[in-house]
Amino acid sequence: MGTWEAVRRGRLLIALLVAAAAIPPASSAAATTLPKKAKASSPPELLSELPVHAGRLVPSSVVFPIYGDVYPHGLYYVVMNIGDPSKPYFLDVDTGSDLTWLQCDAPCVSCSKGPHPWYRPKKSKLVPSGDPLCAALHSGIAQGENSGQCDYEIQYEDRGSSLGVLLYDAFSLRLTNSTRASPILAVGCGYDQQSAVQDASAPTDGVLGLGTGKVSVLSQLSNQGVTKNVVGHCLSGKGGGYLFFGDDLVPSSRMTWAPMSRIGFRNYYSPGPAKLYWGTQSLGAKQIEVVLDTGSTFTYFESHPYQAFLSAVKSDLSKTPLIEEFDDSALPVCWKGQKPFKSVSDVKKYFKTLALDFVKGKRALLELSPENYLIITKHGNACLGILNGSEAGLRNLNVIGDISLQDHMVVYDNEKQHIGWVRAACNRLPNADDHGLEDGDLSQYASMGVLK
Ligand SMILES: *[C@@H]1O[C@H](CO)[C@@H](O)[C@H](O)[C@H]1NC(C)=O
Ligand SMILES: *[C@@H]1O[C@H](CO)[C@@H](O)[C@H](O)[C@H]1NC(C)=O
Repeated sequence: MGTWEAVRRGRLLIALLVAAAAIPPASSAAATTLPKKAKASSPPELLSELPVHAGRLVPSSVVFPIYGDVYPHGLYYVVMNIGDPSKPYFLDVDTGSDLTWLQCDAPCVSCSKGPHPWYRPKKSKLVPSGDPLCAALHSGIAQGENSGQCDYEIQYEDRGSSLGVLLYDAFSLRLTNSTRASPILAVGCGYDQQSAVQDASAPTDGVLGLGTGKVSVLSQLSNQGVTKNVVGHCLSGKGGGYLFFGDDLVPSSRMTWAPMSRIGFRNYYSPGPAKLYWGTQSLGAKQIEVVLDTGSTFTYFESHPYQAFLSAVKSDLSKTPLIEEFDDSALPVCWKGQKPFKSVSDVKKYFKTLALDFVKGKRALLELSPENYLIITKHGNACLGILNGSEAGLRNLNVIGDISLQDHMVVYDNEKQHIGWVRAACNRLPNADDHGLEDGDLSQYASMGVLK
């Protein structure tokens, strides 16, 4: 991927708008050469490899190593094997949207160079426009002209977008009990991408949408009985981590749970409204709506809580040797010390814990230590990884991004409709031997070994 300078303020992959492509593809060439051979058919059944007990599938789990970091790369991704025969793709892990898509040579109208050759649909079938998954993708939005195929356009808050068509293709998965499965899932063939960053190459081949909607791979896997409708992630502050579908890895105790809450018609994950505390000091009586989004590198607060947070931090720091530094291009608000800082532990003592108190159901606290909202830049400055959401155009949404989710196991349980978290060392899998992985140590993934 490009340098940090190119990535600038990190990614902000939270679905802004998903539309039926009433907009015809920019070049008609693309439309006519899309794989048209597919006939409208009901979704293919799960391939035969899964064991069946007394006529029903026993759901298992799938675990993926996560690669990447908050700084300097600005994203976390997994490797998915898709297609028949399957090929590996890097997908940005995004709990802030539903649709999974790949840069697709259908042919491509506008794709950037990615880590792998563009996805080329082979034995895949078009998802018909009448398919319930297509309806779910466009929920509430009238279909454009009925072309028979399921066109989509997805825009993200950071102005990036993908335009394409939905296909069914095989995903190769290794279940935690060492069984292999190749479920056929709907995936977007994105043939026209606009990048948020005008950069020659893309860090990933596409996006793994894990939102609550029917079209997310998680919902599809649970509908087919492969895994439960539960997804969890553990992003290590040292880089790397793991993602899982299913509930095998979820600890039975110690988790803090909050009921899932809806924000309008969006398929976001929200533990409901929260009150903010800086140490023990309340940052305003008003409750804020919060969304957990792994597709976002940083955390964003709407204008008022952002202002309150910033004032509290600045007031504390005015009594310390830290001096505000205005010349670090990495992030808008930074401080420097006598000498460059090497890690957050050098400055930790000047900062407090930021707590989100989720008030719905039983009270649930998400405590953010300085590591969860500060980064040390290559210039040795300490910068705030909590940004002004109003400036980013997020209106009244407060987005908890990767930086604040780090070093927690976070679980989105769509079956029990709650979201849970617990502090965890994310560079090691819990009970790895029970989960079909040769080695529980994930530190090999900490570096972006596979990323150039
Ligand atoms: C996982 O393996 C166990 C046996 O070890 C089997 O009972 C179960 O059905 C398997 N489940 C899946 C989904 O593969
Ligand atoms: C946040 O952004 C909004 C919109 O650009 C701006 O009006 C406000 O002053 C900003 N707040 C702070 C504390 O910078």
